[in-house]
Amino acid sequence: MEKILVIGHGGREMALVKAFLRSLSVSGVICARGSDGIAELCPCFDIAEDDFTALIELTRHEQISLVVVGPEQPLAAGISDAFAKAGIDIFAPTQAAARIESSKAYAKKLMQRVGVPSAACQIFQDKASALSYVEQAAYPLVLKEDGLRGGKGVRICFSVHEALAHLEDLRVDKDNWLVAEQFLEGFEFSLIVLADGTRTLTLPLAQDHKAIGDGNKGPNTGGMGAVSPVPRVSEELQRLCLQKIIEPVLKGLVEEGHPFRGFLYAGLMMTAEGPEVIEFNARLGDPEAEVILPRLRGDLAQAIRHLINGASPEPLPVCKESCLGVVLAAPGYPEKLTGSPLLPPVLMEEVRKSDDLDFIHMGSEKISEKQWQAAGGRVCLVSASAPDIPSCRERLYGLLDRALPPDGGFTFRRDIGNYAEKN
Ligand code: AMP
Ligand code: GLY
Repeated sequence: MEKILVIGHGGREMALVKAFLRSLSVSGVICARGSDGIAELCPCFDIAEDDFTALIELTRHEQISLVVVGPEQPLAAGISDAFAKAGIDIFAPTQAAARIESSKAYAKKLMQRVGVPSAACQIFQDKASALSYVEQAAYPLVLKEDGLRGGKGVRICFSVHEALAHLEDLRVDKDNWLVAEQFLEGFEFSLIVLADGTRTLTLPLAQDHKAIGDGNKGPNTGGMGAVSPVPRVSEELQRLCLQKIIEPVLKGLVEEGHPFRGFLYAGLMMTAEGPEVIEFNARLGDPEAEVILPRLRGDLAQAIRHLINGASPEPLPVCKESCLGVVLAAPGYPEKLTGSPLLPPVLMEEVRKSDDLDFIHMGSEKISEKQWQAAGGRVCLVSASAPDIPSCRERLYGLLDRALPPDGGFTFRRDIGNYAEKN
């Protein structure tokens, strides 16, 4: 039996804890640092996600057999290397392999080397060159700050004025690279695999909704909702993405001496020329995890164990139902938060009573036995499972309309799931 430590404290980690609690091969789950929401499910230990010494000590003390990491920051800081050195099984990429997410410039160079389609780009290490480039570039132009930016380091500029104004606020130097990328048109989806070297297990497809507003308008956020599956993406297209994108990149990482172990996330854009990579992440997506993991019918812990022990992975059974999640964000998000509303008890109560609904805490705190309050930008995700996406939408938005007060205090999108079907 496995005893699992999940590292992280957000919605993705709460979804991981739930998935492991459903896994028959798991005898126990703990989380560090966890959250008030996760603490309703399993013991949480208040240890910072970058305090590797304390986390290793916790792992030994609690006789943990497998560590699974949620967020990107500890990966970029080398958590996998530290645990491997201590002889503990961890399902997470090394610091070198995690550069596929922590450095967009590194990911671009790797993709170019192995021939994976992605937008044409220029990389700048000084502001003067960036400024003279944007003066003569074609628009729209996508400007991406290198390094981890919580999903908010990307700006799509529609004019040279906008690009110059954006650059005014940015540092571009040897430690702060800037990637300027061709704008791609199409529809986006997320393909995530569990990987160890070149062996993989594919998770069901999902679609995130990154902009704050309906119709994908407004600034980017950490993700305002997600849906799985994505019926617009045929099985054939998914196979093509695995062959032309995931496989060559994993092989390329092996060739560079940095085999990838963990969740590999490809953010893809289906363009008129075929699928192209928007970004790689070295982890599960958030909020994608919250709608993908509930659809798995197999034992996630056992699948990871087989993968890291070198056994041929069996595909994970997936339920046919769709799952759709809407994020409730605090007012003012993603700019300056202007309030910390209470979570409506009616909403939480209705979810608790219904098998087809789920409630995931993202950034909330428990202030009394029955009261929860926003404690961050993205506060929680409410999801519905139903035979198809329109039924999920009907169920979920019906619930939100009933259970949120009219001036509810929360910001949320009304169009989650509108782009996943064929049109
Ligand atoms: P990223 O953080 O790289 O995933 O970018 C955030 C979002 O910006 C993506 O989900 C896309 O919606 C958008 N984006 C990024 N790169 C491009 C591009 N080259 N063309 C069009 N949209 C893009
Ligand atoms: N959902 C996008 C991300 O996790 O980066």
